[in-house]
Formats: sequence, structure tokens, C-alpha cells
Amino acid sequence: MTVSRALSEFSSESNSGVSTPLTSISSVVSLPTQFPSRVFSPLITHALDLPSLRSKPSSQELLAVLCTYARNQGKNFRGNEESIPAPEGFVDWATRLVGSGLEWIEGEDDRELIWDSASARIAERCGRTAAPSMEREFEVRNLDLSIILYEPSLTADSLGLKTWGSSLLLANRLTDRHQDLIPSSRRRVLELGSGTGLLGIVLGVLGYPVLLTDLGEILPNLRLNMDRNRDRFSRCGYSPDVNIEELNWADVEASAAYQRGDKFETIVISDPIYSSEHPQYLANAVGQFLEYDNPQAQVILQLPLRPKFVDVRSDLWRKLRDIGLKPTRQDHESGWDDFGEEIFFWSIWRPREFIDICIDIDSLP
Ligand SMILES: C[S@@+](CC[C@H](N)C(=O)[O-])C[C@H]1O[C@@H](n2cnc3c(N)ncnc32)[C@H](O)[C@@H]1O
Repeated sequence: MTVSRALSEFSSESNSGVSTPLTSISSVVSLPTQFPSRVFSPLITHALDLPSLRSKPSSQELLAVLCTYARNQGKNFRGNEESIPAPEGFVDWATRLVGSGLEWIEGEDDRELIWDSASARIAERCGRTAAPSMEREFEVRNLDLSIILYEPSLTADSLGLKTWGSSLLLANRLTDRHQDLIPSSRRRVLELGSGTGLLGIVLGVLGYPVLLTDLGEILPNLRLNMDRNRDRFSRCGYSPDVNIEELNWADVEASAAYQRGDKFETIVISDPIYSSEHPQYLANAVGQFLEYDNPQAQVILQLPLRPKFVDVRSDLWRKLRDIGLKPTRQDHESGWDDFGEEIFFWSIWRPREFIDICIDIDSLP
């Protein structure tokens, strides 16, 4: 078996036993058993101990070192850690590998694998936005199984290809208190801007029928994540009832939900605003799909308090007020995202004619 074949077989199966669409070894963090133990040296503490390219190291030796220093994404945004710290100079060494023709390695596949793996090790050390595609694990409180999500490498404007801290916090809040927060009618819940699907999948596992929506380019990855987690959870007796459809807030009339005349008692939204146009778009979508004549109608919203977006948030509060909603409950909490610890804000908005307790929108953060 060639090294590339051994690795691709190894990397197509995660620890959880779920097959992944990964084609490179970017997420491999430990060594395939096929590797001879003599090439695995956790004692490399200095760049000079890394195999010198002048000595024409074998593909097994190079891949063993590259696998050893893969960064582990960890769980719940607390990852990006090395199981074994890379020696100083590792990135320079990996950069030399990427630039080398590797003429002494036989087989184009093995050379490609070494270049891909070295590039992945470099990219992993350049922060989340530059990181290669990855598979991540999220442990949500009170769920028997963790949620496994695939995240392709990010492109500048496709923020829905990454999971954001708000969705984990709101998922935890819902698994803790969904009987208190979501009406018992078990009507279908709408999620706007579902991204990688964490929150929607959790709602499905809790037994709520859900419609997950996002921009068209985000949906293939969202479907992939839904299918994989549905399979895992259904093996444990759950049967999430989750549909996925395109819904662009800037063009709600084009959506299937609009054409069917769908209305929803509960709409959930996690981390939706990062441009000055988003408040108006979002208010249009909420105004269109919320079931205003239902006394239980509500929008559950969670977002991070990013200092740069104070004005955009104030605008969102005003736009939600302008479509006849008022905040009735709110809370702050701290949590994590890939970029560190942040403060998050959670609120519930309802049609003003049905609420007794209302919070002044000028007091919102
Ligand atoms: C910061 S991400 C949050 C994703 C997910 N809710 C989470 O918390 O992990 C914002 C999401 O809003 C979606 N989005 C942005 N503009 C949108 C629009 N005009 N219509 C529909 N979805 C949009 C993005 O594609 C992305 O999935």
C-alpha cells in the first residue's frame, strides 16, 4: 500500500467512526499504525532535529513528522492546540518542504500528500480565517452525543462556513430550558442564517420540526452536516425532522417558504449582523415569516457584543421595533469563539400587543 493510500484510508474515518469528505490529511492528528515506529520521534525539540531535506528523507518519515504536529481543533472552540508542541523553526521547515520539488520521492501522489500536509500545518498556524478545512466537535449540554460539523476553508464573504460562538451558547440555553422557551405546540421552527447547522441540528434532536435556511452557497455544507448528524443520532433512537432551504433575507419573495405562505410561531437567529444592511434585511425576513396574530409568536436572537458593531446593533433594535416587536427577555453571558472569549447577548422579541413586560430598547447593548 502506498503512503498516500494508507493516509487517505486513515483520514477518511474520524475517531467517532463517521466517514468524512476530507481528501487531504489536514485533520489527521495522530499516526497511522502502518508507520514504522522508528520514524515517529516525539523528542524533536529543535528545528535541527527535523529531517534535513538534504538527507532525502523518505515520504514516511516526512509524513510522520507532519502528522505529529497537526493541530487539534479540540471541542467547543477551545482547540487549536498541539498534542505535541512543534519545535521552534517547524513552520520554516514546512515552508521549505512546500517549496521543494521532492525529486527523490517516488510517486506524484506521495509528493502531493507531503505538499498538502505541509501547507495545512502552516495554514493551521495562521489563525482561523486562514485555516484549512476541518471537522469539529461540539458538546452541547444535556445531549447524549456531540455534534460533528465539517467546515470548509473560509472564503472572505462566506461566514456561514464556520460555526460561531453564539450558536453554541444558544444551543446550550435551549437544551437546558427549551420547555420554558419554545411553545409546546411543536410547530415548525424557522432558523434564519443557519450556517454550519449547529443550532438547527440541536433543535431537531430536541424534537422540534425545524426549517434551516441560509444563502444558496452555504447550503451544500449545511446539508452535509445535517445528513451526517442525522445518521449518528438516528442510530441512538432520535429522528430529527429538519428541512433545509435557501432563504436570502434580501430577497425573501424568491424563497420557497414565501411562495408557500409559511408563517412561524418561533424564529431563531444566531449571530446575524455584520454589515450595515443586515438589520433591514433581517427585519424584512422576520416581518414576513413571523406569525403576528399568534400570542406565542417570538424571535429568539443571540449575538456577540462586537465593539465595532454597536451602531449596527442599535439599528437592528430599531428595525425590530419598527416591525412591531418588543424585547421581553434578555441576558448577557460570556462564551468562546475561535477568536477568544467574548460577551454575548440573548433576547426574545414578541409582537407588542401580546406582551406585559417590555424592555426599553435604548437600554439594549
Ligand atoms: C456569522 S454567520 C452565523 C452562522 C450561524 N448562525 C452560527 O451562529 O454559527 C451569519 C450567517 O448569516 C448568513 N447570512 C448573511 N447574509 C444573509 C442573507 N442575506 N440571507 C440569508 N442568510 C444570510 C450567512 O451566510 C451566515 O450563515
